[in-house]
Amino acid sequence: MTTMTDEQPTEKLSDPSGRGRVDGYRIIFPQRQHSYTEEEIAAVVDVMRNAEGQTQGPYLEQFEADFAAFIGADHAFGVSNCTNALKLAGIFSDIGPGDEVIVPAYTYCASAIPFGDLGATIVWADIDPKTWTIDPEDLRRKISPRTKAVVAVHLLGIPCDMKAIMPIAREHGIRVIEDCAQAMDCTIDGQHVGTFGDFACFSFHAAKTMTTLGEGGMFIVQDPEIAKAVPGIRHNGLTAFTGARERYWVPAMSNVDEFWPGQWPQNFCIGEAQCALGSVQLRSIIPNNEILIEQDRKIRAALADVPEISFPEILPGHRYVVHQYVLHFDGSAFGRNRNDLLDLLTAKHGVRAIVQYHPLYRYPLFTKLGAAEHDCPVLETWWDDSFSLPWWCGVSDEEIAIMTDAIKESIAELKSA
Ligand SMILES: Cc1ncc(COP(=O)(O)O)c(C=O)c1O
Repeated sequence: MTTMTDEQPTEKLSDPSGRGRVDGYRIIFPQRQHSYTEEEIAAVVDVMRNAEGQTQGPYLEQFEADFAAFIGADHAFGVSNCTNALKLAGIFSDIGPGDEVIVPAYTYCASAIPFGDLGATIVWADIDPKTWTIDPEDLRRKISPRTKAVVAVHLLGIPCDMKAIMPIAREHGIRVIEDCAQAMDCTIDGQHVGTFGDFACFSFHAAKTMTTLGEGGMFIVQDPEIAKAVPGIRHNGLTAFTGARERYWVPAMSNVDEFWPGQWPQNFCIGEAQCALGSVQLRSIIPNNEILIEQDRKIRAALADVPEISFPEILPGHRYVVHQYVLHFDGSAFGRNRNDLLDLLTAKHGVRAIVQYHPLYRYPLFTKLGAAEHDCPVLETWWDDSFSLPWWCGVSDEEIAIMTDAIKESIAELKSA
């Protein structure tokens, strides 16, 4: 077998991180989806030059209004990241010790951490073997009298089955928190995800479809009463003094108050430069997703005659925006597994495929903190055969051919060995 170190490829590929061919790989997972445009850079520089304050100002207000309009929500609040948006959802759901929160076991760790941090018991839901998102029937099975909320994660840009999840949650009186970190521009029958549940949380982390300089998030709230409390809880309980004051500085410049019964406030604010950038980036979400969708079409076409590879099934009316590129490999007919395939893809073909998202209950964090108990038979077997291809907005046709040819050649080799 030749290895990638025998065959150091020299061609320049399109990886926006500029790190292609690191360690001899031809195609690696980049750190971000795409490069900034000049307009986006100018928006940040404008804040640096001209904004009077660098936080809590007009750019935040504008970004929140732009974001709310983009997804069709009434109340959107810019925050420091999606993890903290999820924490706010937990705070406003009054989640604490003794409560249970149902979280799909196949997701990024932050879908669960804030609820564990609030003292809740995490109950792991299984995935649907076809859609790879939370299985609504397993959700139903796992609801107990202690269940306070379910986290509906639209993972990989695949909307989960909100039409099934919402009635189950309403029937049992539990909150629905949508984790939309990977789901910008995902819709169900034209309605944006994040507008179905009680709360929704978006991420603008560096690896996301849009990034506000590496970190950032948006918290969406349905209930107008809760919406009134968000700015105070988001910002250390700061508020104006009401009533007459002796002088404008007496007793002090601003008051600090309780905004939600029994809840300490946080500081989850996002800066003005990030917000200015966010407003501009919103304009490129749909065109960039169209590029990702087209890349997916090409890969599916190239692998259409490879029965060992399967793709997620997208429910009717759902817009899948292909945020990550996860595939499933079934080599059981010839006694091979995902690891055999990845060995060849990486070492022989220089395609640095990875495996994303261990079932969360297997990570030391969750086992050490008492969240290892699980009953997820689908995920237990499905996960062992899943893998991700390097993915970003702008993978060239040449790179698609390298990756799909590598998969086909590797499977042929595994079959014949
Ligand atoms: C599904 C999911 N939820 C939550 C998060 C947390 O987002 P953030 O990094 O903005 O806190 C991420 C980020 O990767 C994610 O992918």
